[in-house]
Amino acid sequence: MASTPAPQEAAVEAALARLDLDTKTRLLAGQDAWTLPALPAIGLGSLVMSDGPVGVRGVRWSADDPSVALPSPTALAAAWDPDLARRAGVLLAQEARRKGVHVLLAPTVNLHRSPLGGRHFEAYSEDPYLTGRIGAAYVTGVQSGGVGTTVKHFVANDAETDRFTVNNVIPARALRELYLAPFEAIVGSARPWGVMTAYNSVNGTTMTEHRYLVNEVLRGEWGFDGVNVSDWTAARDTAAALHGGLDIAMPGPDTVYGPALAEAVRAGRVREAAVDDAVRNVLRLAARVGLLDGAEPAVTEPPADVDGAALAREIARRSFVLVRNERDTLPLRPGRTIALTGAAARDARVLGGGSATVFPARTVSPLDGLTAALPEGTLTYTVGADPSTRLAVAGQGFELRADCRDAHGALIATATTSNGRIQWLGDDLPAGVTHDALHSVELTGTFTPRETGTHTFGVQGTGRFTLAVDGTTYYDDVQRPAEDDPFEAVFAAPEPRARVALTAGQPVPVSLTHLVDPPAGVRVKAVAFSLAHQEPGRDPDELIVEAVRAARAADTAVVVVATTEHVESEGFDRTDLRLPGRQDDLVRAVAAANPDTVVVVNAGSPVELPWRDEVAAVLLTWFPGQEGGAALADVLTGAREPGGRLPTTWGALADAPVTRVTPENGELRYDEGVFIGYRAWQKAGRTPAYPFGHGLGYTTWAYESAEVHGSTVTVRVRNTGARPGREVVQVYLAPAAPDAERPARWLAGFAGVEAAPGETAEARVDLPRRAFEIWDETSNSWSFVKGSYEIQAGRSIADRRITVPVTV
Ligand code: BGC
Repeated sequence: MASTPAPQEAAVEAALARLDLDTKTRLLAGQDAWTLPALPAIGLGSLVMSDGPVGVRGVRWSADDPSVALPSPTALAAAWDPDLARRAGVLLAQEARRKGVHVLLAPTVNLHRSPLGGRHFEAYSEDPYLTGRIGAAYVTGVQSGGVGTTVKHFVANDAETDRFTVNNVIPARALRELYLAPFEAIVGSARPWGVMTAYNSVNGTTMTEHRYLVNEVLRGEWGFDGVNVSDWTAARDTAAALHGGLDIAMPGPDTVYGPALAEAVRAGRVREAAVDDAVRNVLRLAARVGLLDGAEPAVTEPPADVDGAALAREIARRSFVLVRNERDTLPLRPGRTIALTGAAARDARVLGGGSATVFPARTVSPLDGLTAALPEGTLTYTVGADPSTRLAVAGQGFELRADCRDAHGALIATATTSNGRIQWLGDDLPAGVTHDALHSVELTGTFTPRETGTHTFGVQGTGRFTLAVDGTTYYDDVQRPAEDDPFEAVFAAPEPRARVALTAGQPVPVSLTHLVDPPAGVRVKAVAFSLAHQEPGRDPDELIVEAVRAARAADTAVVVVATTEHVESEGFDRTDLRLPGRQDDLVRAVAAANPDTVVVVNAGSPVELPWRDEVAAVLLTWFPGQEGGAALADVLTGAREPGGRLPTTWGALADAPVTRVTPENGELRYDEGVFIGYRAWQKAGRTPAYPFGHGLGYTTWAYESAEVHGSTVTVRVRNTGARPGREVVQVYLAPAAPDAERPARWLAGFAGVEAAPGETAEARVDLPRRAFEIWDETSNSWSFVKGSYEIQAGRSIADRRITVPVTV
């Protein structure tokens, strides 16, 4: 591994030598939610961090500071194309620089252990090799733009239930071969400038204090020379965290570092040399991103500008997985009339919830995308089924601004906002506003309904609120937190406060005023509340009847089904894999009315598709990012091929071999060992709905030959269809004789190739040595397993076309 350049190290040492203990410990603690303090005396700028991973939110958690929103990480992995992931990283570096961000809090490389994991949309795959390849390319791309990354969450934050306290009990083999493997691969090949340690414990020790995994494995064995930042609020104990290799405790200003760390050194509980090591890591990061005077940044010339919207659209269509396409229903033949249905066709769910949220300047829904792509008069739209049964942040139809007033009612500033959410954390306030001066914020403007009926308005947040719609005050009272939870104001469900009969197309004034008065004991200064809204409830049966009528009248029906923000998000796991609301009923009814029914699944991670054999085609589009609807039109009309292959097995929950996400007595036991994902499905002898690696595209492929020379497998494939295409040639390694301790086969390599109709292409796949190794728990080291294997090349784990025996 290349080491840090000597002049950079010299600058780091020189800067360190000029710092006293109090300043050093201050540098290891967030000064606010996202930044470290600047130290002008040594020429050090303030380091700014931001989420990650589909965009760069910046230090403002609000829609008035928009960001490009790429497709979900599951989508990026579904493209099985490291170079595309690298290009995503280059764009994100550009976004980071535009927003003054030096470190992107990404990528998320935890594994899809149980399909119930609520945050799976934010990780790549159930397979550690694929995760490592995509993650490494992403890190390489971001860092090539001079911006740091923090590979997260180290390690085993594979579910959300009790994530702050859960102790994941993981056998050493599984830990090494599965959960640590992507981190190891990324550290080895992409040299990330940071990692983020997880909230959870592993085998009894919380990850922000895990000396063995951080100091011995990550830094010692793998040679990681970057910074280790805590997940937000994860650091709990000053001395234990420092001894466990944690460099930065976030967020500030109240952390276990800073003055508490200086005090621990003075009391003899922590050696100052250990503090120096952490400061070195921070200064090295600062040097790399160009924040330390006298040190040459890692990148002096940022890459050429990337068109974010174009790249978002390209990644989306490359990620869409066509899992079923009877009678070549897709692409749609020109001139056909289309009946589009589904709430998500109009209000697309483009990204998942939680810290990964960014606010794109625009989003293209399937309805927008198809309207633009199809000839006029050939497309109809019906809602069909609406799974969003709850209030959501006011957006569609609202035009709002935020008026900030002082205690005398004088206007001190007006902030723009593109939706009903206000979230000003720390000193992130509109220009000209200070916490001391700010007394009230009024979200005010108009709402133009698109449906006639009773609209519900609600308020999310704690404190005093006044809500008026169309000139009538409906609520003027105090909302108190249900429990003592610091995130309550941000994450608690909005309360319904007004029900108002409105007419479609007729604008009405709305106003929500909040008196800014932080609850006693809350030290982080924040203004956080939302105006929420819900469309009039329509009779669900009537909605389906309407959709069926439209489907019957059209040549093809396209049904968009989706999960909601209450199904897939950071902060909680799923309880089932069903599509919420009446969406399954909608698909069945439409499919019964029109044999040419195409279902588009807008979900970040697996859902059950119980009707999948009753419809003509099924296209999985993940959370497709801001340009999702445009990409969907590209793919449905056949302008482009859907390029994705499943990065994770899709199957029914009842059949899934590993599902548990709820700890018992604080422990979540990974008793299945190395058998997760397809490894577990194979062992259980069960057939999922759609296997790992599956995806059809718009052409067909013949596997003509495979040869093995040394560690290189060369596979020749021929495009036997009628249009050009891209094939993801997958190479699996299978022990020739079954071995109960090892999976039946596992992904050992892959390569994408393109060919015109009738042409051949050669995929060259280099098998890593690690593909033949297991972690030996007795010697605590990797062990190369000699013997006979089959190298199996094919289109998915279930569709293997060519086998070559090898003995190693
Ligand atoms: C998440 C991290 C994220 C951090 C900062 C945490 O809740 O787990 O992934 O980077 O918040 O937003």
